[in-house]
Amino acid sequence: MKFEKIQAPKGVREYLPPESSAFDWVRSQLIAPAVSAGYQLMELPVFEDTNLFSRGVGESTDVVSKEMYTFEDRGGRSITLRPEGTAGVMRAVIESNLDRGQLPVKVWYSGQFFRAERPQAGRYRQFYQVGIEAIGLDDPAIDAEVIAIADRGFKNLGLKNYRLEITSLGDSNSRAAHRVDLLKFIDSLTLDEATKERAQINPLRLFDDKRPEMQEAMKNAPLLLDYLSDESRANFEQVKKYLDALAISYVINPRMVRGLDYYTGTTFEFVHSDLGAQSGIGGGGRYDGLMETLGGQSLSGIGFGLGVDRALLAAVAEKSLPQDQFTSDLFIIPLGDDAMSSALVNAQLLRDAGIKTEIAFGDRSLKGAMKAADKSGAQYVVVFGDSELSSGEVNLKRMRDGVVTSVKIAQLKDVLRETLSR
Ligand code: HAM
Repeated sequence: MKFEKIQAPKGVREYLPPESSAFDWVRSQLIAPAVSAGYQLMELPVFEDTNLFSRGVGESTDVVSKEMYTFEDRGGRSITLRPEGTAGVMRAVIESNLDRGQLPVKVWYSGQFFRAERPQAGRYRQFYQVGIEAIGLDDPAIDAEVIAIADRGFKNLGLKNYRLEITSLGDSNSRAAHRVDLLKFIDSLTLDEATKERAQINPLRLFDDKRPEMQEAMKNAPLLLDYLSDESRANFEQVKKYLDALAISYVINPRMVRGLDYYTGTTFEFVHSDLGAQSGIGGGGRYDGLMETLGGQSLSGIGFGLGVDRALLAAVAEKSLPQDQFTSDLFIIPLGDDAMSSALVNAQLLRDAGIKTEIAFGDRSLKGAMKAADKSGAQYVVVFGDSELSSGEVNLKRMRDGVVTSVKIAQLKDVLRETLSR
C-alpha cells in the first residue's frame, strides 16, 4: 500500500535550509536593539483564553471577528491561538504582579502568531513577529525610544526603502469629542447594516475600509488629529521633537487605523515600498486602557510588533542580506582516520575562536568531498591528508577565486581570523 504525502496547512510559512539562516539572522537583528536597551525576554503560550483577545483586541476588529483560530479544548474551555502579542504580555504582567515592581516593565518577545487571513505574498496564517512592550510609563520620551528601537532593527537589516508613519489617537477626551462629530458624519452616509454596526463599535474602523466607495465617502470625514486636547497635542509634539533629535524621519498619517482596538495616543506603522499590498513591516503604539480592560490596574503602555516574514522579504527585495553570514568559514576535508581525528580536534579549536567550521564526513572521494565543500558555500577549504599531518602544513583554498596559501595547521585560527575580519 502506498501512502499519500501530507502537505503543510494552507497559508503557513515555514523556513528550511538554506533560507532559514537568513530568517534567523533577520529575527535576531530586529530584536538586538531592544536587548541593548534593557528589554527582557518573555516566553508566552501560543494559546490563551479566548476572552483575552475578544476583550483586549476588540470585537470590532477583523482579527477578532473573522480571523481567530478558536477551538474548545478537552476541558470544554474556549481557547484561541494568539493573533498578536500585546494582550498576552498584559495578561502575564497582571497575573505575575510584574506591574507592582519596578516601572516601566520592559519586555520583548518573539514567535508565531495566527490569523485566518486570506493567504497571499507576505500574508500568512501563521507568521512571525518580534515585539516589545514598555508598561507603566506615560512619557513621550519612551514613545520615541520604542519607535527608535524598531527603526534601528530595520536599519540593522540594511533596509532603506521604508517610511515611518505616525499619528496620535489622543486621550479619551480627544477621542470622545471626535467620536461625536465622526458619528454625525457617518450618519449622513448611506451604509449597509454590517458597516453601520462596525461604526457603532469603533467608527475609526471605517477609515480602514478598503472598498473604493468607502474610501471616497470617508474623504471628508473629520480627523482625530484635529480634535486633540491641548495635553495630547503637546504630547505628540514632544514625541516628534524627540524623533527629530534622533534624526528619524516620519510622515504624519492622520488616517492611519491600526487593526487592533486598544490603541490610544502615539501610534505608528513602518511601510515598505517594495512589497506590494502587504507593505506593513511593523507597527505599534500606546494602549492606555488595555491593562484595566484585562482586570489589572490602570497603567499606560506602548510597544510594537515587527513582521519577521515581511522584513525578510524586504531585505531580499533590497538585496541587503549579508550572504557570507549564512555559510561556513572553513570546510575541512580529512582523508583517513588519523586525519579525521585531527580535523575533529582542529574544528573544535577553530569554532571556539568563532570560526564557523564544517567537516566532510563519510567515506567520500576527494572529488566528492570538494563538491560538497563547494555546495556548502564555505569561504575556505583545506584538505587534511597524511602528508599535511606529517608536515603540519595545509593548503588553504579561497573558494571565491581559487587562490591557495600554505598555512601551518597551528596557525589556521590566526590566519582565518585575520582574513575573515577584513
Ligand atoms: P500588527 O500591526 O497587527 O500589530 O502586526 C504587526 C506586524 O506583524 C505587521 O506590521 C506585519 O508586519 C506583521 N503581520 C501581521 N499580520 C500578518 C500576516 N497575516 N502575515 C504576515 N505578517 C503579518 C500587532 O500585532 C500589535 N500587537 C503590535 C503592538 C505591540 N502594538 C503595541 N504593542
